[in-house]
Amino acid sequence: MAQEIMQVSPLPPFMMKALQEADYIVHDHTHIKDPGALGKVTALIGTGAAKVDKKLLMMLPNLKLIAICGVGYDGVDVAAAKEKGVAVTHTPGVLTDDVADLAMGLVLSIGRRIPQADKFVRNGDWVDDQFALMHKVSGARLGIVGMGRIGRAIAKRAAAFDMHISYTGRGVKADVPYAFYKTASALAVDVDYLVVTVPGGESTKNMIGASVLQALGSKGYLINIARGSVVDQPVLVQALKDKQIAGAALDVFWDEPVIDPELRRLHNVVLTPHIASATVETRQAMAALTLANLQAFYERKALPTPVPECQ
Ligand code: 8YV
Repeated sequence: MAQEIMQVSPLPPFMMKALQEADYIVHDHTHIKDPGALGKVTALIGTGAAKVDKKLLMMLPNLKLIAICGVGYDGVDVAAAKEKGVAVTHTPGVLTDDVADLAMGLVLSIGRRIPQADKFVRNGDWVDDQFALMHKVSGARLGIVGMGRIGRAIAKRAAAFDMHISYTGRGVKADVPYAFYKTASALAVDVDYLVVTVPGGESTKNMIGASVLQALGSKGYLINIARGSVVDQPVLVQALKDKQIAGAALDVFWDEPVIDPELRRLHNVVLTPHIASATVETRQAMAALTLANLQAFYERKALPTPVPECQ
């Protein structure tokens, strides 16, 4: 019997195709007011941008699974889901390399001002001007906020650039050789690049605020490939305007995809449209893992990648 599921955010066409080929009936969240469909939905599927709150959970009496195609699931009220007996899965591991690659790309882009240099050539400015000298990235100090899978993958890449690596997080990781700092502010004082990799959600909301940016200082760069919510964005914009920090490279923002015009006007930023995992190979692997979680659920097998709270 075909299983009825509901998508709670736009999904890539190849994923829709795979769901249809696997015989799922996929309702769109715009059908949400159709009581007939709501009662039949047993699983929700969505990307890291999906919002699944108590209100939505209450509308779906037979819901048993929320399958997120993304490693971050901060839009899902996991506590409320668990209370209702609904399991939550995500896609850790398969996107680690891509996210770490982009983080390093952003370090190089902001440190060596690659987008600005590109603009300089395109504008014809090179004809009668010299592009200002930058500072070396190789051998610089890189601080990682959150030494999880992605933090470790960034450290591995940064080590190849002879960078001095240090980190902060919930505690010392016995299996990594880098210096540990108790707080993001303490770490920021001692680094040139501060890379944010922690998950989004209430516990990390605005964790990078005025004191961390002040500690990072006028020669420091902030890189965020985690979630916009982790950084106090208005405070960051002001710090960038006042040159309190040297610059920021951001892949994630408050209110994506609508970006604060003040941020867009700044010259000491590199901005990318939440593309850390956006390669064909990785998005296909994420889709396949999401489908594997759905399939395991309907076949009553162990879920391949439940979120930690549901393990
Ligand atoms: C995308 C992400 O948002 O995995 C995450 O947490 O932020 C991204 O990979 C998205 O979920 C892609 O489907």
